[in-house]
Amino acid sequence: MEPLRWEPRFECGDSVIDFQHQVLFALVNEVHCAAIEGDVGPSPREMLAGFARYARMHFVREEELMRATGYPDLEPHRREHDALCDEITRLSAPDSGVEVLDVCALAYDWLVQHIVGADLPMIEYVRRETAA
Ligand SMILES: [Fe+2]
Repeated sequence: MEPLRWEPRFECGDSVIDFQHQVLFALVNEVHCAAIEGDVGPSPREMLAGFARYARMHFVREEELMRATGYPDLEPHRREHDALCDEITRLSAPDSGVEVLDVCALAYDWLVQHIVGADLPMIEYVRRETAA
């Protein structure tokens, strides 16, 4: 897996959400590097738990934004968030039998697909609602 690079197409225009998305990318990259480097520094699986914690905090912020503006797709969006957190927790367990690098690849695919497919339309809606 190549390092995750932030691309302009991921930007939603909300500076806090964009910043947090970039942090999520950086955290996956850190886990990825740690998994490649081997026995130096913190355990990659512990770092995955850190990614999951930060993701949860970020998701709460998005969900508050959706709730505050009456976003109609809050529930499916929230379910996507919950599914990622559950999946990362399950796969990052030491006995999951899944390689950390594979979890990174899953997190990467999820982030790109979710940001483009779910977050961008959601922020667009929030922007319209708050401008009205
Ligand atoms: Fe989201």
